[in-house]
Amino acid sequence: MDKTLLNVLSGLLFLSTTIAWAAGDPELGKQKAQACAVCHGPDGNSAVPMWPKLAGQHADYTHKQLMDFRSGERDNAQMSPMAAPLSDADIENIAAFYAAQQAKIGTTSPEHLELGERLYRAGNAKTGLPACMACHGPKGSGNPAANYPALSGQHADYTAAQLRAFKSELRSNDLNNIMRSSASKMTNAEIEAVSSYIQGLH
Ligand code: HEC
Ligand code: HEC
Repeated sequence: MDKTLLNVLSGLLFLSTTIAWAAGDPELGKQKAQACAVCHGPDGNSAVPMWPKLAGQHADYTHKQLMDFRSGERDNAQMSPMAAPLSDADIENIAAFYAAQQAKIGTTSPEHLELGERLYRAGNAKTGLPACMACHGPKGSGNPAANYPALSGQHADYTAAQLRAFKSELRSNDLNNIMRSSASKMTNAEIEAVSSYIQGLH
């Protein structure tokens, strides 16, 4: 076969896989996600604070987390066995389904508002903690292009558990230590305050 034609063909093949990847099918994802509903809720708004809300999360972030659970890069006794049997296509479809759902926002407890907001918007100059807002956005909607997750409305218990897991390196699937380096600078009081702030943020 002539080289130009070969290039064109491989280009087309690349294009079609890229399109297929971007366009996970939310309907197929919804069917597959029935097994997830007991913990994460039928529309990804979990009712139990230790189980994260998945509704409205960027598809690329959900995709990365499911790949990481499946490969063992991120480990959790409840979640890892759920991700293990998923195919690549299942993961794409599920990620598209949750991205299309609407996150339900919670509330910030009044006693955590002042410190939580200060940390989220400005960090802590004394300890070198960066502002969460710089990556996760002023309203917690994240940054899909950089694969920074949305945080807005997430259960405070789950957020605090993740910050403690990053701090202790129990969770280490963040590229270049991007979250471990922030979490390691936080006290427990700061973790509680910022997590409560995020629960009401939108
Ligand atoms: C028995 C309860 C349970 C079931 C069923 C379950 N999960 Fe989870 N899921 C969890 C827990 C607990 C976590 C938090 C794990 C951690 O702390 O790292 C989690 C985390 C996640 C995350 C990461 C969220 C984030 O913000 O980083 C995704 C994505 C996810 N689950 C998707 C799924 C999918 C898809 C299914 C169904 C195939 C599923 N889960 C079934 C309990 C469950
Ligand atoms: C330099 C960018 C950056 C900054 C600053 C940053 N984050 Fe993150 N954060 C990330 C990235 C990237 C991830 C996703 C890591 C992964 O791939 O698992 C993340 C993940 C998280 C998660 C896990 C979300 C989930 O659904 O499991 C929480 C919680 C979080 N960040 C809270 C914070 C808080 C609170 C602050 C401020 C104290 C902060 N982040 C500052 C980039 C950042």
